[in-house]
Amino acid sequence: MDRLKKSKVIYRRSQAVIAGPSTFSKGPDQFAHGITPYALASGKGAYVWDVDGNKYLDYIMGLGCLILGYRHPHVERAVRKQISKGFSFSLAHFLEIEVAEMLCKRIPCAEMVRFGKNGNDVTSAAVRLARHVSGKEHILFCGYHGWQDWYVCQTSMNGGIPSVIKEYSHRFKYNDLVDLSRLLDKYKDSTACIIMEPVSRVYPEAGYLEAVRELADKYKVILIFDEIVAGFRFHKGGYQALCGVTPDLACFSKAMTNGLPLSALVGRKDIMSRCPEIYFSLTAAGETLSLAAARAVMEVFDRDNVAETIDKNGKRLMEGVEKLISLYELKDLVSIEGFPCRNVMLFRDFKGTPAVDIRTYWIQELAKRNILSNGSHMMSFAHKDKEISYTLGIYTEVLKLIKDGLSDGSLSAKLQCPPVKEPARAL
Ligand SMILES: Cc1ncc(COP(=O)(O)O)c(C=O)c1O
Repeated sequence: MDRLKKSKVIYRRSQAVIAGPSTFSKGPDQFAHGITPYALASGKGAYVWDVDGNKYLDYIMGLGCLILGYRHPHVERAVRKQISKGFSFSLAHFLEIEVAEMLCKRIPCAEMVRFGKNGNDVTSAAVRLARHVSGKEHILFCGYHGWQDWYVCQTSMNGGIPSVIKEYSHRFKYNDLVDLSRLLDKYKDSTACIIMEPVSRVYPEAGYLEAVRELADKYKVILIFDEIVAGFRFHKGGYQALCGVTPDLACFSKAMTNGLPLSALVGRKDIMSRCPEIYFSLTAAGETLSLAAARAVMEVFDRDNVAETIDKNGKRLMEGVEKLISLYELKDLVSIEGFPCRNVMLFRDFKGTPAVDIRTYWIQELAKRNILSNGSHMMSFAHKDKEISYTLGIYTEVLKLIKDGLSDGSLSAKLQCPPVKEPARAL
């Protein structure tokens, strides 16, 4: 019996009507196609069920949105309560003000707030506001910020973007002050802002973020932290609350609502108060289910030690994986990189077997063993001891299979699907 029977039917139907995945990172080419299910039906805690009723331990967690786990009772109650009162209104709803006040209490740079629906809304608004307030046009960026022209123009997928846009956007390397200083010098009087993830694949080197802050001040450039992923994952006040470096503006979304569509641009009053002068306005910004969810998420963060628990469980997982890597002497071909709250298994080419084959095999074998993975671990509050123990048990088995498959050169032949594509975020 085919355990993915319904998934395959839905996939075939999707080919007629869905013009490519709605979210690149959820597309079938990111997974072991035909082995990872195509479509999910429900979730609870750290688990999801696919359309065929198979249960998986999820390490993708809505690409980082589900920080508390699927259907967290406090958030679900808040959303249900709000449904009974209405979710789209003709004027501002008081929840906007309440949630804005809560954000201002928790996030160091937040003196005022504007809401959007997704990360793109607020990273774009931040850049537009910085350009407007500074009267300058160039932007320096580092990391991923969404699908808008000013970012995507500098990637390989820049179709549909006027080439002139590229002249105003400049990418700098993380943890490399020389690179940033070079760009600031080159565009000395024309840089509006630096936009960056304060932490992304690796930790900032000692003094790095402090030095970025100093450079921004020296060159009179607005510093924007993109905390779409980092926010609420490391600390309830954002990574800025942890690292002690305060940007001028910051962008939050994903974990802020445990999965409902809401984002927030927050920042210094003198800059934020000029928001009404730029065109940033959307019909659904004040939708109340997401706002009710944001309020509930912050209440849970205040009540429970969410970030600390995630850190503790993430450490246990990372240390467990590292032990297995040493046990099987696999250091040359795999490592686990990142942070306890968010990390990734990185595979390298090994004696003729390309890294992508090893990564695909990993995702394939985990899917067969009911772990939904794209190679990374987006930890949540619902990933507790039981889940970590289960995971390490499966990893013991699959890393051994990888070792054996590489020793006799049979690993690539064991792939039952096309190689997975590079994570869409890398662009
Ligand atoms: C750091 C960062 N910024 C911005 C975005 C864009 O957010 P969204 O996809 O919600 O528009 C993302 C999305 O993954 C992100 O990771």
